[in-house]
Amino acid sequence: MKFTVALIPGDGIGPDIVKEAVRVLDAVALTYGHEVTYKHLIAGGEAIDQTGQPLPEETLKEASSSDAVLLGAVGGPKWDNVPSSLRPEKALLGLRGGMGLFCNLRPALLYSQLADACPLRSELVEGGLDVMVVRELTGGIYFGKRGRSEDGAYDTMSYTKSEIERIARKAFEIAMKRKKKVTSVDKANILETSRLWRATVEEVAKDYPEVELNHLYVDNASMQLVRNPKQFDVILTENMFGDILSDEASMITGSIGMLPSASLRSDSFGMYEPIHGSAPDIAGQDKANPLATILSVAMMLRYTFSLQKEADAVEEAVRKTLDDGWRTADIFSEGTKLCGTRAMGDAVVSNIR
Ligand code: IPM
Ligand code: MG
Repeated sequence: MKFTVALIPGDGIGPDIVKEAVRVLDAVALTYGHEVTYKHLIAGGEAIDQTGQPLPEETLKEASSSDAVLLGAVGGPKWDNVPSSLRPEKALLGLRGGMGLFCNLRPALLYSQLADACPLRSELVEGGLDVMVVRELTGGIYFGKRGRSEDGAYDTMSYTKSEIERIARKAFEIAMKRKKKVTSVDKANILETSRLWRATVEEVAKDYPEVELNHLYVDNASMQLVRNPKQFDVILTENMFGDILSDEASMITGSIGMLPSASLRSDSFGMYEPIHGSAPDIAGQDKANPLATILSVAMMLRYTFSLQKEADAVEEAVRKTLDDGWRTADIFSEGTKLCGTRAMGDAVVSNIR
């Protein structure tokens, strides 16, 4: 297969981790006979410095015309004081909204090799933890009208039925390939958007009689995630609740440095990125954990290119690397081998060949 991948390394540790993920993708291409062409694009703080805009038009255009996008991270203290319309984070929202990536998949997987890093009592996660957060990504309060009044401020949350329907369908499709359980999270005791959400999800559920559906209020869901995380298979939720719950879900897997994500729409196009931020304090020091970005490449192979074998190979290589004892500082524990970003990349690459 021949494909074009847009690379947006971004700020902080972004370039460090994207570099390793690209080496892994190259190793996969070489091993399985594919040809990857890369486009290097700028966004976030780097783009602000070079062009005055967090998301230059060129970046959106070139990213959109690729087969998939691999993004590192954007932002950092250097740009904390720029006007809100120019913040690096705007680039992320612009890419998500501009390319219509309404479906955000955030798998929270506890690797048995890292079980010690889980902050919960071991009996709560015995046998492993495997939760898929399906977050609506282009609607809700993130994209609603906001502003200032004389002595106040407002942000608005709105959803259309079709926006809810399409993300719900994705969640049920994914659940069909997993343990066939969807937990829809809302705040239907308060929010009108949540009442529409719940009713619409109920309707979509009729097309998936094999899938068990339940609803939780978001406050309860956040408690249940730490009280009994094994009750979850697929968590379906709106944009902001998904932002919050996916951070919580990631933490119970031990390290935010391990979790990838995919942002998808109805065709095969997608943007892939680790869920962690740009960690400017360790940028360029060969300290960052590249595994979340490498695992994002696995998601790209699976969801955009439908290359299951190749995706499995990357995930297998990561497991093998952990089995071999390699650990970056964020997941290091006694008795394992501390390594840097590059050495971690090397280890995964050698496990693919
Ligand atoms: C995430 C991040 C972003 C979000 C920020 C950086 C805009 O927290 O991807 O979870 O809130 O969506
Ligand atoms: Mg977040």
